[in-house]
Formats: sequence, structure tokens, C-alpha cells
Amino acid sequence: MRPEDYDDVIALWEAAGLPYKPRGRDSRSAIEQQLRWPTAIYLVAELEGRIVGSVLGTHDGRKGWINRVAVHPDHRRKGIARRLVEAVEKRCLELGIEIFAALIEDWNDVSMKVFARLGYTKHDDIFYYSKRLDPEV
Ligand SMILES: CC(C)(COP(=O)(O)OP(=O)(O)OC[C@H]1O[C@@H](n2cnc3c(N)ncnc32)[C@H](O)[C@@H]1OP(=O)(O)O)[C@@H](O)C(=O)NCCC(=O)NCCS
Repeated sequence: MRPEDYDDVIALWEAAGLPYKPRGRDSRSAIEQQLRWPTAIYLVAELEGRIVGSVLGTHDGRKGWINRVAVHPDHRRKGIARRLVEAVEKRCLELGIEIFAALIEDWNDVSMKVFARLGYTKHDDIFYYSKRLDPEV
């Protein structure tokens, strides 16, 4: 992903019905700043010059994180999400990171099925705690 892809990526997330934080960590300035970090593995899938898929991968030096996986509804079930997620995993593996994680909201059955197909295990014994300065962050 390049900074100039921002509008197309937001349009993709809207089309995909992906919840995101336009006034927080997904704002244009926030994404532009994040793209400058060496730990950002932000990838887009392009088809005939159009962005049809996204993944915002990151790593914290210990673990790889998969965020904002989205594929345009016209191009689903073709393996695009798989290729995007596996591309993030590959970058992490090259850095010696061998564990990958994703946070999935409880209503998102499709996402749970997809991550299960991609080899991810659901942990019923882990609860996600976060601390945020603002709900929009
Ligand atoms: C989740 C999403 C990104 C999947 O994209 P996709 O490109 O259609 O997924 P893929 O074609 O790469 O499928 C990957 C695997 O999941 C399976 N899969 C995909 N969609 C599925 C569905 N609706 N039900 C069950 N399995 C599904 C595929 O069969 C494939 O498994 P296989 O390779 O073993 O056959 C897409 O549905 C989407 O954008 N959803 C809305 C946004 C969202 O909720 N993102 C996740 C946030 S955590």
C-alpha cells in the first residue's frame, strides 16, 4: 500500500462492510504515519489497476498481527484474502516471527471461518482488554 492508495482502500472497506476508525487509527494522517514504520506490512491486491483487497499487517518483534483484511464483494472466494494474509506471514517468517494473530469480533462468522481455513485457532480462553483515550481512536 502506498499513501496515495488511501481513498481507494477506504472505498474498499466501505464496499466490504468492514468496520474501521476514520477519525482514529484509520484516518488519512494516521495511515500515512503508520506506513512510514518499518513494522508496517500494509498490502493491497490489485486487479486491472483497481484495489480489490487489503491487509494491514504489523509485527511487534515477537508476533505478527493481521488487521483490516477486506476483499471487494465482487471478488470473493478467489483466494485473495488467503494470498494477502500469507504474504504478511511470509514477511514475518523472514524476520524469524513464527506466530500470527488476528482479533475477530464475535458477530463476524465469515471472518472466523476464513481464519480457521487459513490455519488459525480460536481461543475461547482469552479475553481482549484494551485501554483507549477515546472510543474513536
Ligand atoms: C473475510 C474476507 C476478507 C475473505 O476474503 P476472500 O478473498 O473471499 O477469502 P478467500 O477466497 O481467500 O478464502 C480463504 C479461505 O476461506 C474460505 N472462505 C472464504 N469465504 C468464506 C465464507 N463466506 N464461508 C466459509 N468459508 C469461506 C475459502 O474457501 C478459503 O478456504 P480454502 O482456501 O481452504 O478454500 C471477505 O469475506 C471480506 O472482505 N469480508 C468483509 C470484511 C471482513 O469481515 N474482514 C475480516 C475482518 S477480521
